[in-house]
This record gives sequence, C-alpha cells and structure tokens, in this order.
Amino acid sequence: MTDLVLTGLRKTYGDFVALDSTDLTVEQGEFLTLLGPSGCGKSTTLAAIAGLDVPSGGRITFQGRDLYNAETGLCLPPEARNFGVVFQSYALWPHMTVEKNVSMPLELRRVPAAERRARVAETLELVGLAAFARRYPGELSGGQQQRVALARAIVFKPPLLLLDEPLSNLDAQLRLQARSWLKDIQRSLGLTTIYVTHDQEEALAMSDRIVVMKQGRIVQMGRPEDIYGTPLHPFSAQFVGSANLLEAELLSVGDDGLARVRLPNGPEILGHAPLPLTGAGPVSLVLRPERIGLAPVAGPGPVNEIIVQAGAVSYLGEGYEQVLDLAGQSLRRKGERAMTEGPGRIQVAAADLLVFRKD
Ligand SMILES: Nc1ncnc2c1ncn2[C@@H]1O[C@H](COP(=O)(O)OP(=O)(O)OP(=O)(O)O)[C@@H](O)[C@H]1O
Ligand SMILES: [Mg+2]
Repeated sequence: MTDLVLTGLRKTYGDFVALDSTDLTVEQGEFLTLLGPSGCGKSTTLAAIAGLDVPSGGRITFQGRDLYNAETGLCLPPEARNFGVVFQSYALWPHMTVEKNVSMPLELRRVPAAERRARVAETLELVGLAAFARRYPGELSGGQQQRVALARAIVFKPPLLLLDEPLSNLDAQLRLQARSWLKDIQRSLGLTTIYVTHDQEEALAMSDRIVVMKQGRIVQMGRPEDIYGTPLHPFSAQFVGSANLLEAELLSVGDDGLARVRLPNGPEILGHAPLPLTGAGPVSLVLRPERIGLAPVAGPGPVNEIIVQAGAVSYLGEGYEQVLDLAGQSLRRKGERAMTEGPGRIQVAAADLLVFRKD
C-alpha cells in the first residue's frame, strides 16, 4: 500500500529553486533514503513532508489525505501530521531526564499517565537505554543521546518516521553499530521511514530504495543493487560507489544498446548505452574501478582490450588502487594485484563501459 505521495512538489527562495517539481511515492513499511551532496534539497524535502516548511507548489498526500495542496491552499501544521522526526542535532531538552524527554510527546498528546509510563519504559527498552532513564542528556554519550532522540520520535507510534542525518554526529565505529540497530528497529516495527544522508555506504546498507538527488532534482531512484549496478546517469555512478568518467565521441549505436565510441586521440572501443542513444556526438563513459581486468575475460558480449600506461600504485589493504593513463585521460583501477608501471593491457567488457549522452 502506498503511504506518501509527492506530486510536483516545489520549493523556491526568490529565484533560487531548492526543490524542482518532484514526484515521489513511498510504500507502507518502506525504508526510503534521500541521497545527494550538500545543498541538493534533501532537508528541504523532509521539512516539507514534516510540515516544518511551506512548499511553493505541488501536493503532498499521506494515506490518501492531503497534507499540503497548493491549489486549495491547505498546509497542515506538523502536529496535525503527527510524524516522528529526528534531526542531525538531536535537540533533546537538557533540563529533563531521558525518561521525561521521551515522555513529552505522549504528554502533548494527552496520553494517560499509566499508559505513558508503560510506553516510555517499553521504548527505552527497545533502544537499549532502560538503565539510563533517570540521567540527563548531558550525562550521555553522543550515541546514547541519538537513541533518546529516536525513542522520542517513535514513542507515540507515528505512522511515518523522518530522519535527517541522524547518525552524522557519531564516530565511524558507533555509526556502523547504529546503522544496523536502527534498521532492526525500523523493520521490527514496520515503520515507514524516510532517511536523509549524504553517505552512500549508509544508503546502500540500510535502504529498500534510494533516491539520488542533485541540485533540487531526482536523478535516479531504485533498489540499492540497481542504482549501483545500473546507474542511469553519470552522477549516480559517481555518487554511489566510485566511477571513472571518460570523454569520448559516439560513432554508432545498435538496437541492443551496444555503442561504438572513439576516445580523443585514442582507440575505438565498445560500450553499452543503458538509456536510448541516437546519432553521433560527445558522450561520457562511466567505468567502475573494480571492473577493469588484467587477464582476458570471457564475456557475455564483447570485451575490449585496451593499451594503457600504468602509473602510481596505492596499497588499500584488501587490494591495490592504481592510476592508469588511457590516451591522455586518467583512470583509477582497483584489483587484487597491481600492474607493472609502464605500458600494459587492460580488459574491459563492453557491458561494464556505460555510455551516456554528455549533458
Ligand atoms: N531559507 C533559505 N533561504 C534561501 N536558500 C535556502 C534556504 N534554506 C535552504 N536554502 C537553499 O536550498 C538548497 C537546498 O537546501 P537543503 O537544506 O535542502 O540541502 P541538503 O540537501 O539538506 O544539504 P545538506 O546535506 O548540506 O544538509 C541549498 O542550496 C540551500 O542553500
Ligand atoms: Mg540537510
């Protein structure tokens, strides 16, 4: 069942478009992540859904009910939407105990005292903070404070949970733990969740679906495997995982998407166009560093053998990263072994060399 629908949602500040006419649906129980670089409109989208900000156009419905509708002028206040929200700054009340912080949303909703106590205890148990109920936020670590913020957002059983970079104040180790812990809670409660991050690893690890955003627009959305495996835009390839970007000239393209391209001052090679491509002209090639082979690969499909100049090597622990020069353009390659510096051959399957119209 569909929970949330955004239709043509827009937000402008004067002439500046922070969010350009955006369409998006979120299914019940889904963990959806908005992923993109700083300033791409993630928080703007979340604030519009939470009711913390008035959009400039479009429509938001939740379970079939209008939350915002530019045509009718309706814009429900946050309390009428009743969503759970956690921001990057946890904004706990410093003069209240953990227990009291978590109890506040229930008091505001006039939940009777006995039920309130039971729900606070149950929620603190869920986030692993039962033993900390009487402490003040100042007496907790960053990770513990973040759990209090989450407990406070879910204690009233919101129908939608909105999380804006909730783990960004944690160190790398805690962040990893919090990731799986948060995901477990979300799944066990079946909470429809919209999660904002600019951390691609976090997005890949936690999400049912990822929405890649750039400059106020959705570039691509899909399952993590699809976004990583079949990027439909050079930007999603570079932002999710790492990718080499090369300039080339399109010579021809077949119905099967097999494209013949020429690198400037370089060889003709075969690539694959994931989106329809016609005619000739400048194109961008996307190639993942780990998809550059040394030994001849038996494709499905054609494989390019390309002469490069192998350069500097870095040791990464699990393998090597090496800089290669391909007819004046620089490539990074990752693999279990490095090439000897100097001229050498690489093997690249046409299916791994994605060809996009240059935009
Ligand atoms: N009140 C405002 N007035 C003018 N421009 C604003 C205002 N609020 C946000 N913006 C602009 O809107 C754009 C989107 O902002 P938003 O906060 O949604 O980015 P974000 O994707 O959440 O970035 P970050 O990862 O840095 O949090 C930014 O370019 C920002 O400068
Ligand atoms: Mg933000």
